Amino acid sequence: MDLENQELLDILKKLDKKYTDTGQDLTSYLEGLYHAKYLNYWDYIAQETLLSLQRPRTNFPDEKVFIMYHQITELYFKLTLHELKQLRSKENIDAKYFLSKVGRVNRYFEALTSSFGVMVDGMEREQFLTFRLTLQPASGFQSSQYRLIEIMSTNFLNLVSKDHRANYSSNSDIQEMFEFIYWKEGANHTLTGKKAFTMVQFEEKYNTDFLQMAKESQGNNIWDIYKSLSEEDQNNPEIIEEMKWYDVHVNVNWPLAHYRSAVKYLIAEPHAIAATGGTNWRKYLPPRFQKRIFYPELWSAQEIEDWGKGWVDSVVQEHTVKND
Ligand code: HEM
Repeated sequence: MDLENQELLDILKKLDKKYTDTGQDLTSYLEGLYHAKYLNYWDYIAQETLLSLQRPRTNFPDEKVFIMYHQITELYFKLTLHELKQLRSKENIDAKYFLSKVGRVNRYFEALTSSFGVMVDGMEREQFLTFRLTLQPASGFQSSQYRLIEIMSTNFLNLVSKDHRANYSSNSDIQEMFEFIYWKEGANHTLTGKKAFTMVQFEEKYNTDFLQMAKESQGNNIWDIYKSLSEEDQNNPEIIEEMKWYDVHVNVNWPLAHYRSAVKYLIAEPHAIAATGGTNWRKYLPPRFQKRIFYPELWSAQEIEDWGKGWVDSVVQEHTVKND
């Protein structure tokens, strides 16, 4: 060892300070370092564990596509939550930081929306309709990360179902509004209007966590953080545009790409009722029916009126014609 090397001595001094400050012994740590194995890619990325997590329930090869694309989506949702959590825990946020985080989230959702073809065009319909029966009553509807993203993004009022929203204000009691959260309109049986078991299980598992997050996000969601920026930053066209894109990605583009999958696989199909457990998804999923909007203050009355329109009709017609 080159003891003349000042850089090396400096780092050793720093290390010595780090360990003695916490009552520990640097020499034994260095001894440990000497014996430690080198890091490699496969351990660092936990490749073996990651690649062991695809566990189909049938022998249909396309079930792996279905599982993996859901997992990829959940990882992007996790990245999104990671950015949102940083945004809400940092103090004195400036425009640059705000833009960089919302920009990242937008890129995650762009990637998700543009990659949805993996589902729409990537599985044989007959395979899907058969292996889907084995997965009942599970549904992407039960994705908790998807709901947490929404809860952290907007005033809770904006997540109240469209028909009940007018009965509340942004200061209303969260628990009361939670009774009318928009997703209760979904996963209901078409014929009886009763909650599907998918929903019963979902509520049992997550309602307490969702309520807790909703309470924590009051005064601290992405809209509140935007409102805490200076007047000048709030009016910055770049920031407004990024916020609007976020709203469009999460509440129109992704839901439409997803809806396209549902239409492709489930519409005009004799097994449709069985494959979804007979739920009301056609009335529930299209964004133009739900009108979920995170930042209504940033949109004109006309834009709100036209929310999610156009695209859905063309997709449904296109597919219905093909199957007629
Ligand atoms: C062939 C592909 C897919 C089909 C046919 C499909 C079908 C459906 C249906 C019918 C619903 C309505 C709820 C229900 O009735 O069960 C739903 C909801 C949902 N699915 Fe999918 N899905 C697909 C892919 C995905 C993927 C890849 C994800 C990613 C995690 C996902 C996440 C969700 C979410 C978050 C909801 C709730 C949406 C809301 O409440 O507005 N789905 N899906």
